[in-house]
Amino acid sequence: MVERSAGKLGWLIVRPKTVPFASRRTFFAFLWVAALASLFVWQRNSTNGLLTLDGIAPAPPPKLRPAVFCLTEFGGVGDGVTLNTEAFERGVRAISELGSRGGGQLNVPPGRWLTAPFNLTSHITLFLATHAVILAVQDEKYWPLMPPLPSYGDGREHPGPRYSSLIHGQNLRDVVITGHNGTINGQGQIWWTKFFQKLLHHTRGPLVQILWSSDIVISNITLRDSPFWTLHPYDCKNVTVKNVTILAPVYNAPNTDGIDPGMYLLQMLYSCEDMLIEDCYISVGDDAIAVKSGWDHYGIAYGKPSRNIVIRNLVVRSNVSSGISIGSEMSGGVSDILVENILVWESRRGMRIKTAPGRGGYVSQITFRNLVFKNVGVGIVIKTDYNQHPVSGYDPTILPILSDISFTNVRGQGVRVPVRIQGSEEIPVRNVTIQDMRVGIAYSYVNKPRFQCSFAQGQVLGTVFPAPCENFDQYNEQGQLVKQGSSMNVSDIDYEI
Ligand SMILES: *[C@@H]1O[C@H](CO)[C@@H](O)[C@H](O)[C@H]1NC(C)=O
Ligand SMILES: *[C@@H]1O[C@H](CO)[C@@H](O)[C@H](O)[C@H]1NC(C)=O
Ligand SMILES: *[C@@H]1O[C@H](CO)[C@@H](O)[C@H](O)[C@H]1NC(C)=O
Ligand SMILES: *[C@@H]1O[C@H](CO)[C@@H](O)[C@H](O)[C@H]1NC(C)=O
Ligand SMILES: *[C@@H]1O[C@H](CO)[C@@H](O)[C@H](O)[C@H]1NC(C)=O
Ligand SMILES: *[C@@H]1O[C@H](CO)[C@@H](O)[C@H](O)[C@H]1NC(C)=O
Ligand SMILES: *[C@@H]1O[C@H](CO)[C@@H](O)[C@H](O)[C@H]1NC(C)=O
Ligand SMILES: *[C@@H]1O[C@H](CO)[C@@H](O)[C@H](O)[C@H]1NC(C)=O
Repeated sequence: MVERSAGKLGWLIVRPKTVPFASRRTFFAFLWVAALASLFVWQRNSTNGLLTLDGIAPAPPPKLRPAVFCLTEFGGVGDGVTLNTEAFERGVRAISELGSRGGGQLNVPPGRWLTAPFNLTSHITLFLATHAVILAVQDEKYWPLMPPLPSYGDGREHPGPRYSSLIHGQNLRDVVITGHNGTINGQGQIWWTKFFQKLLHHTRGPLVQILWSSDIVISNITLRDSPFWTLHPYDCKNVTVKNVTILAPVYNAPNTDGIDPGMYLLQMLYSCEDMLIEDCYISVGDDAIAVKSGWDHYGIAYGKPSRNIVIRNLVVRSNVSSGISIGSEMSGGVSDILVENILVWESRRGMRIKTAPGRGGYVSQITFRNLVFKNVGVGIVIKTDYNQHPVSGYDPTILPILSDISFTNVRGQGVRVPVRIQGSEEIPVRNVTIQDMRVGIAYSYVNKPRFQCSFAQGQVLGTVFPAPCENFDQYNEQGQLVKQGSSMNVSDIDYEI
């Protein structure tokens, strides 16, 4: 996977084109728009499709490890009422003894398997059959507490210990969670309500969290209604997330535009290296994907960047936040990220990079290409004043660096503000490239800038609509400079639209 990502990122570097690319590019653009559209249509219809499958015997689980067990062998009862924590723990323990012989597979058959949090082991495959649902117990007394994550200092929502994730793993190797689209359901409603009513005393637990581990595969399943973050690989290497559906209510969350850190129902990648996320459908109550690497001095001290991450072929929806976001916690640094073939629909923002004074670190070598925005508030956002800090103080003179960020082949319709790149005097945004962008605007105010910049420097290449901000240099399709940008300090940021 290292080679795959490195190779991909290797030939991505944007260079001025020596045409006659226009028609071929249009052809490819058409191809992937068609592919995304079919994924989209398939997603919208497949719930009905699933119902018609009822009555047909579901396919038996494939044998993916030398030893295969069924949860019922360990006393599991899939009636939605019986607590199966011990059955899961016994199953995991049996598999933990088989590590040297290739590990084992634990099949979760059709049924509703209520459980409290449990830990995984190395060399395990957890296989969720069609109509198998792992249900999280709702009473928090069953959720064990564990220390806060180091790069979050004292804790995220509350200082002190935090709740475990439902399915938890740390210091593991070779873990697979897959199936025939079975579901892990966090039954998060009660947690969200208690969170709003301020009845919780500890940071909520994610649905699936894997820490300090490597060689992780999550595929062919559905994750829904997490109490908190949905899928949280933290300081891991070699993680693949493929063909996963992630669902949560899209507007059951407070407006998270900077102030309230609380309601993250997102899939979050934290200080990870060599990671692939592809072919997923994500519709949640916060960012669909958020790449992070630590919070202010805690993140600087922890010192782990997120890099070599490929995110592609996704359909994402985020009513209150963004499709794909980087930051605002990025103090360990974020680089070598490729985001391609993404459809963002009915969302507040498309792609967002956010940071603030005090973070330190960098966001650099980020490549976005083949993006489609459908009914999105702001398409591309870079924001440098996302001032949310740990309680225990921070040093505002430690500044992050934002540079070398490119967007190629961006399309859209019903977008209010296609681009808003808001650097500041202390955190300028350097070397942003936008190539071939045509984004249709939702409705028009006369004379309002749709491509807004401040303290930003960069270049546009080829056809770019709406017209770029003055700050940027403009090149034509042949790579010839057409217009030199004015001072990068010019600001036409307008939050009115
Ligand atoms: C899997 O299940 C989810 C939720 O029921 C559904 O939205 C999705 O379309 C299903 N995926 C497949 C491949 O059937
Ligand atoms: C899982 O393992 C961690 C680390 O050993 C431990 O802190 C936690 O309590 C365990 N969780 C459960 C549910 O046993
Ligand atoms: C995605 O998963 C579903 C079952 O969840 C399976 O039917 C389908 O073939 C998978 N698609 C890919 C591309 O792996
Ligand atoms: C990454 O993990 C996968 C799945 O466990 C494994 O097949 C592959 O060999 C790993 N890649 C590297 C470079 O370790
Ligand atoms: C996911 O499903 C596809 C299609 O059935 C299959 O090829 C792939 O191996 C599955 N992934 C895992 C990890 O089992
Ligand atoms: C978010 O959901 C609300 C309620 O359905 C809707 O009115 C609003 O338009 C949605 N926002 C976006 C950006 O789609
Ligand atoms: C600007 O960024 C691109 C990557 O987006 C990189 O290839 C290029 O070398 C950078 N230019 C400068 C002058 O640093
Ligand atoms: C404007 O930008 C230049 C660099 O182009 C910088 O040296 C100068 O300090 C900036 N001035 C203000 C007022 O921000």
